[in-house]
Amino acid sequence: MGITRRDFLTRVGQAGGYSAAFLTMQGLGLVEARPAKAEPLQAMPGSGNGTKVVVLGGGIAGLVAAYELRALGYECTVLEARDRPGGRNWTVRGGDKVSFLDGTTQSCTWDKGHYQNFGPARLPSIHPTILGYCRKLGVELQVEVNMSRSAYLQNDNVNGGKPAVMRQVVNDTRGHVSELLSKSIHQGALDQDLSQEDRDRMLSFLRIYGALDEAGKYNGCDRAGYAKTAGAGDETGVLSQPIDMHTLLDESFWQGMLFDEQFDMQATMFQPVGGMDRIPYAFAKSLGDSVKYDSPVTEIRKTSKGVTVSYRQKGAAKTIDADYCVCTMPLTLLRSTPNDFSAPYKKVIDECTYASAYKIAWESRRFWEQDYNIYGGLEFVTTGCSPIWFPSAGLFSDRGVLVSGYTDESNSPFGKLTMPEKVTESRKSIERLHPGHGKELEKPMYVSWGKIQYNEGSWIRSYGPGQQRSSGSGSARLPGQAPIASPRQINPGYETLVEPDGPIVFAGDHVSHIVAWQEGAALSALRAVQQVCDRVKAAKLAVSGTAVKSE
Ligand code: ALA
Repeated sequence: MGITRRDFLTRVGQAGGYSAAFLTMQGLGLVEARPAKAEPLQAMPGSGNGTKVVVLGGGIAGLVAAYELRALGYECTVLEARDRPGGRNWTVRGGDKVSFLDGTTQSCTWDKGHYQNFGPARLPSIHPTILGYCRKLGVELQVEVNMSRSAYLQNDNVNGGKPAVMRQVVNDTRGHVSELLSKSIHQGALDQDLSQEDRDRMLSFLRIYGALDEAGKYNGCDRAGYAKTAGAGDETGVLSQPIDMHTLLDESFWQGMLFDEQFDMQATMFQPVGGMDRIPYAFAKSLGDSVKYDSPVTEIRKTSKGVTVSYRQKGAAKTIDADYCVCTMPLTLLRSTPNDFSAPYKKVIDECTYASAYKIAWESRRFWEQDYNIYGGLEFVTTGCSPIWFPSAGLFSDRGVLVSGYTDESNSPFGKLTMPEKVTESRKSIERLHPGHGKELEKPMYVSWGKIQYNEGSWIRSYGPGQQRSSGSGSARLPGQAPIASPRQINPGYETLVEPDGPIVFAGDHVSHIVAWQEGAALSALRAVQQVCDRVKAAKLAVSGTAVKSE
């Protein structure tokens, strides 16, 4: 007697559990693979009842996954290696210690109330998922000032190394470009492209846009700032002399000028009041003892019923069995964690590369506010540590913490310097931009993500040879270059990670197209939760037989 498809699936479900039934259904083409994007969760409250999920990693992805899974009734345990939630989302304050994998330790002695986010430090307004969790969890936000027109740009090889103020760089560039375009129109160079009416309209526009005079010349303008500002009585202002176009075409100037034109760097940006770690601590409070701290994962194994994960808790060896696993661990850590992932997953884990961003932060008198009228924002130098990042919190107070140097240092000459040499370079950048103020910097703290245990990298750079990620901040994308998707043939590593490996689903910013942002981590977690929910639903249907239409 033949066996029906329903009987077959029922038996697979009875013998191997939900995962086995689901995989079989997928193999038979009865369940569609989901596209690589997050959608609102489609699952009934309580639908997770009786299903156990172990979440590996208590960073943003793990916390979001656990928060949503618990809301759906799943029995959820988060294994977090550190003694705190947040993963790379990490705020350092006075009294904290920073230890590197090589044993180097620094003690932070900043004044009370001062902090630095040695991980994510800004939340774009176009990241509604993570901002939505802030709203839901009551995390108070304030504006993070990403760019100030009073901030400076500097290049050792230009203008004798004299810094130029952002408002002048922006407006002089606009003026020169407008003058050239205006000249081209007058010379008839665009007669083929523009009607007489549009030529006239364009010339009127350029006069305003580029602050041109009647003859179409740019001679500077007050938008670009003053060499001597106006005052009362007979104190008239003196406009700054325009910077010549040759200087403005230098990459260091136009790149810095365009920084906040990038989609994910545009105003309005936010930050939690008191430090970025307010977000993970708010999640952690809601999750209570579902999060096991000091619990590094030592082994991940698939079983006939789901997964078995081994870990150490405060030194003692432990294991946990679950139906599903949401794995958010950085791939650099998975590389050294015994596992039985399928071959394509092992390949991407072995072959991917990560960046190691560093930040050097200093406590100082707020000379940038008090002497330069700079309140928040970034400055850029061509040589040495860049950018400089001024604090957005505590404006108008006496002292604050600034960053001098924040970039990927892996495979760079800077990365090869000793820590004291790096700190010296960091101070020099302030001296280049604000001569005389380097000596005001105190109590440096240097953090490089790749040197921190359980980070081992700041964000993924490639998913394998030739599989460069092309989106998210820190990628090679320039303003004006559209991020390209990573189709399967270009980026098989990424496409592997977005699919479950049996009972294991992956999450983390590296499993999103928004790499190096908490939004990517949160969206990937929602997608991972949906994958679990779909499997649970499909497997239940398979076992009851109702999902099978044709027999
Ligand atoms: N998203 C990170 C930043 O804001 C890389 O710098």
